[in-house]
Amino acid sequence: MRAWSRLSSVFKISRPSISASSSLSSRPTTSAPAVFTRYLSHSRPFSSTPLTAAAMKLLYPTSLKLDITSIEGFSAQLVPYSVTEPFPEEHVDADILITWTNSADNLKDGAKRLTKVRWIQSLAAGPNDVLNAGFDASKIIITTGSGLHDHTVAEHTLGLLLVAARRFDEMRDYQLQGKWPGHLGGPQPDRPEGKFTSLRGANVLVWGFGNIAKTLTPWLVALGANVTGVARSAGIRNGIEVVSEDKLPELLPKTDALVMILPGSESTRHVLNAERIKQLPAHAWLVNVGRGMSVDEEALADALNEGRLGGAALDVFDVEPLPAASRLWKAKNLVVSPHAAGGRPQGAEGLIAENLRRFIAGQPLKNVI
Ligand SMILES: NC(=O)c1ccc[n+]([C@@H]2O[C@H](COP(=O)([O-])OP(=O)(O)OC[C@H]3O[C@@H](n4cnc5c(N)ncnc54)[C@H](OP(=O)(O)O)[C@@H]3O)[C@@H](O)[C@H]2O)c1
Repeated sequence: MRAWSRLSSVFKISRPSISASSSLSSRPTTSAPAVFTRYLSHSRPFSSTPLTAAAMKLLYPTSLKLDITSIEGFSAQLVPYSVTEPFPEEHVDADILITWTNSADNLKDGAKRLTKVRWIQSLAAGPNDVLNAGFDASKIIITTGSGLHDHTVAEHTLGLLLVAARRFDEMRDYQLQGKWPGHLGGPQPDRPEGKFTSLRGANVLVWGFGNIAKTLTPWLVALGANVTGVARSAGIRNGIEVVSEDKLPELLPKTDALVMILPGSESTRHVLNAERIKQLPAHAWLVNVGRGMSVDEEALADALNEGRLGGAALDVFDVEPLPAASRLWKAKNLVVSPHAAGGRPQGAEGLIAENLRRFIAGQPLKNVI
């Protein structure tokens, strides 16, 4: 019954009347659209003829290169749209919207005019833009692109951690002044106490232990780091001990590198505040690739400039691009990465196709917020 109601809403048809004498194997007797009759006939192979009857309309963005052929074959009309312009009048009847790097105005326009949309698939891991645009989340299923950025963000995070440990940033600063950074080269003490110079033996705390963290941490472990995760619930995940936030006062003082991969939400605003920054050792580095709002940037600038923190490599900021007036530009040992960790969803077609299949089948979608 439930499956029928999902299907009928998807295909916009009413329940067929089946006579009392119908056997279980009877087919519906109403004139259901061709697409639906064929949908029921699982035993017969589908013909390769494109299905058009009662097709849903799916709008996909032209802001990235999608292999559209790999999401063809469903009873959905696939229509490209520009993410920076108002939605064309002839497509405001769309059922499904895929978003990627849409302008705020485009999304606001969509929230007002796409009155029939029932599912929005964001390709971003954190769909704050869609949520802020005014779509009615009580009526629309919103799914994220969580999983599409795991590899790229994990790779970038690893890069930033290596910059922090090996000080490539400082080498470059010296190079630009035509100076030899002698203190960084030649014979060096191996992993001196109270310094972060290698991932080997370093205590790395990963705050926000979701998909990205699960990709990153095996690499950190392979390089010899002692990794602990922090999330809302404690437990062992992918072989890593994950603790809840109440353990932070115990863990922060032992941390050599704090990696933040938290989503942006009111519950994560300024979770790394002055008090928690004070609990980190003076040699510790912060790497943030989650959302800028999770760090109190003023408190961070103070700690860096006063030498109470080793350094910070930030890919995300409260306001992006980082305003010219921000103190972070000049803060000591701060690396500014311009939200460059993700930005290239990998396997987007696979997620869209899988969720489209589930949507048509009336099954729960992946990555629902
Ligand atoms: N820099 C970039 O280019 C880039 C690219 C992609 C994503 N991101 C950011 O990275 C974030 C994480 O991505 P993901 O795919 O790993 O997400 P995910 O799989 O949803 O994982 C999120 C993690 O954060 C934890 N969390 C959520 N709210 C929390 C809170 N209030 N306090 C403590 N922990 C909390 C979750 O805890 P539980 O596991 O206990 O639920 C989970 O471990 C995204 O939301 C996005 O903002 C940035």
